[in-house]
Amino acid sequence: MAPTTVKTLTYLQQEKTLESSFVRDEDERPKVAYNHFSTEVPVISLAGLDEVHGRRVQICQNIVEACENWGIFQVVDHGVDAKLISDMTRLARDFFALPPEEKLRFDMSGGKKGGFIVSSHLQGEAVKDWREIVTYFSYPVRERDYSRWPDVPEGWKAVTEEYSEKLMGLACKLLEVLSEAMGLEKDALTKACVDMDQKVVVNYYPKCPQPDLTLGLKRHTDPGTITLLLQDQVGGLQATRDNGKTWITVQPVQGAFVVNLGDHGHYLSNGRFKNADHQAVVNSNTSRLSIATFQNPAPNATVYPLKIREGEKPVLEEPITFAEMYRRKMSTDIELARMKKLAKEKKLGLDLEKENQLKELEKPKLDAKPLNEILA
Ligand code: OGA
Ligand code: NI
Repeated sequence: MAPTTVKTLTYLQQEKTLESSFVRDEDERPKVAYNHFSTEVPVISLAGLDEVHGRRVQICQNIVEACENWGIFQVVDHGVDAKLISDMTRLARDFFALPPEEKLRFDMSGGKKGGFIVSSHLQGEAVKDWREIVTYFSYPVRERDYSRWPDVPEGWKAVTEEYSEKLMGLACKLLEVLSEAMGLEKDALTKACVDMDQKVVVNYYPKCPQPDLTLGLKRHTDPGTITLLLQDQVGGLQATRDNGKTWITVQPVQGAFVVNLGDHGHYLSNGRFKNADHQAVVNSNTSRLSIATFQNPAPNATVYPLKIREGEKPVLEEPITFAEMYRRKMSTDIELARMKKLAKEKKLGLDLEKENQLKELEKPKLDAKPLNEILA
């Protein structure tokens, strides 16, 4: 076995048993099958969104309701060209099918901004995720580093550029709807992002020998404002509304984007809109591809509710920067993992209530890494 083969999942997916570094604690393992689909997350057609006195009102109502209930919905008739979507997906699949040494030419381990990596590019992961990713930092345009964008398969770079641009447009339209729903000017949410960042993460989840023991992507909320996820027809995206007690698998819809709100969107709405709590599960039958486009505020953008409704308390004590918000999130996650490990060692068991209390604290830690090393 060549050393490069070990690093990607191409080799591991052929094993009969799952390598121990991917095995999760029992309480984190999947509870619902990857293909046991739920239709609870609404599918909303955006046809007529620009008709101010027509369908727009109804579409906005549906979006707002979904954001209040789940923080997730799916959109169809979104105006992103089907050919662009299929080109993007085909080229992404072709990339992951390349030999390991080709993919590893873009290896981003060691904190490089963009490229290919197995599991995760974030710090402090105790158990690995069963996925390979390619990630692009696409906005602001002046910060693009094309040397970190794969130059294979041929033509992918141009397609990615167009895809990024079209998705930025769609995200801004959706943020307009949410701004209006908050009783603010249309551009209130984009303005609060100062200069919107965009990052594209292409997730490839190979077939897994023991999918019940692991996750493709562990439970999380996205940190940013809004995320647009394109997934294939396999299934694997799951969401929970009760802190992980029960889960649903989001039904794949051909050509749709799954839209979910992140922490920034949640805070700006003063908690009215949910930050979707989600994960991805894998399976032993087939590989799965998803493309997540994260719309984030600039690192120095202020995070604080844009509107506090009568009788509400602010969800944040004070305004902080997005960079600080992110740092607190990461250090809380690391602290949680540490406490969990300790509790396990002592066989105490960390109950959900304690876990939530800790989440509430979101204490900044002095040993936190600089933002540019962890901000993904
Ligand atoms: C993500 C994400 C889910 C999926 O990339 O943040 O939640 O189904 N992906 O791939
Ligand atoms: Ni996510």
